[in-house]
Amino acid sequence: MPSDLAHGTLEDAKAAADVSMQSLIRPVLRGALALTLALGGCAWDAPMSTLVPRSDFARDILHVYAIITWISIGIALIVGVALAWVLTRYRARPGASGMPPQTRGHTLLEISWTIAPAIILLVIAIPTIQIIFRTQAAPPSDALEVRVLGRQWWWEFRYPTLAVVTANELHVPAGQPVALVLDGPDVIHSFWVPQLGGKRDVVPGRLNRLTFTAETPGEYRGQCAEFCGVSHANMGMRVIVDAPDAFARWVAAQKAEPPEPAAGPAADGKAIFAQSACVGCHTIRGVSSGTLGPDLTTFGSRHTLAAGILPNTVENVAAWIKDPPAIKPDAKMPALGLTDEQARAVATYLIGLK
Ligand code: CUA
Repeated sequence: MPSDLAHGTLEDAKAAADVSMQSLIRPVLRGALALTLALGGCAWDAPMSTLVPRSDFARDILHVYAIITWISIGIALIVGVALAWVLTRYRARPGASGMPPQTRGHTLLEISWTIAPAIILLVIAIPTIQIIFRTQAAPPSDALEVRVLGRQWWWEFRYPTLAVVTANELHVPAGQPVALVLDGPDVIHSFWVPQLGGKRDVVPGRLNRLTFTAETPGEYRGQCAEFCGVSHANMGMRVIVDAPDAFARWVAAQKAEPPEPAAGPAADGKAIFAQSACVGCHTIRGVSSGTLGPDLTTFGSRHTLAAGILPNTVENVAAWIKDPPAIKPDAKMPALGLTDEQARAVATYLIGLK
C-alpha cells in the first residue's frame, strides 16, 4: 500500500528487502555462470597471453597492469570488509523503529572520500605515464628497423637495412632492439603480438612506431587487433625470435638467389606461374615483380600460409591457389581457374623456394 510504504515501518522495509533479494538471486547466478564460462576460455600460458611477457615492452605493460590489478584488489577488499562491518554493526535490531541517525553533511568524511580517489588515480598515473613515454621514445641507434605494412588481410615485413622482404612471419633477433615502423596502405589495422608488446594501430598516412627487445627465442602468435574488413579475424601473424646466429643464417637464406626448380612438377609450376596472372601481384626474385601480394621469393621457408591460417604444405597451397576466397573470405587473390594438376605443380614450385 503506497501510503504505508511512504511512511516506512521497519516490517515493510524488511519485506521489501526480502523480495528484492529474491529477485537478485537469478541474475547473480546467471552472471556467475557467464563469468565461469568466460574465464574457462582463459589460460595463464595460452599462446597469446599478455601475462607471459617475452620482451621489455610487454614486461613494462604487465608491470602497469599488475599495479592497477593489485590496487583494485586492495580497494575491493577494503570496501567489502567495511561494507560487511557496517551491515553487521548497524543492522536493524528488535525493538528499533524509524530511521537511524544520518551522517549527511559530515565534512571530514566528504573531504576524505574526495581526496582518496584522487590519490589512487595519481598512484596509477605516475607509472602509466612513465611507461607511455618510455614506449614512445625514439629507438636506440643499434635497433633493427623493420617496416610493417598491414594489408587486407596479411602482413608485409620489409627490412630496409638488410634488403629482405617477407610476409606474415616476422623474424627478429633475440636481445637486439627492433624498431617497427607501421604503415597501412589500405585501411586501419592494429599490430598485436601479446607476448612481445602492443597493440599499436597501423594507420594509412601515418607512421607509428613500436620498439621492443625480444628476450627469448621462440615463436609468438600475433593478430590484427582492429576490425579491418571481412577477413580481419584471418589476419594473423607469427613473430619468430631467433638466437643471433640463427637470425644471421635466416637473413643469408632470404638473400640467396631462389633455387632453380628440378625438372617435373616444380619446373612445370614455375612455367605456369610465369605465364599466369600470378606475376602481376607477386614478386619472385628473377621471375616476377608484382607488389600487390606477398613476396614469394622464399615462400617455402615460411611455416604457415595465408596469414597464419594453414600449415604451409603442398596440399594446402594447392587448395589455396585453386580458390583463395574459399579459405579466406573476400581474399583479394582471385581463383585463377587452374586445374588440380596445375595448382599442385605451382604449389610444389612455391614450396621449393627456400
Ligand atoms: Cu587487419 Cu584487422
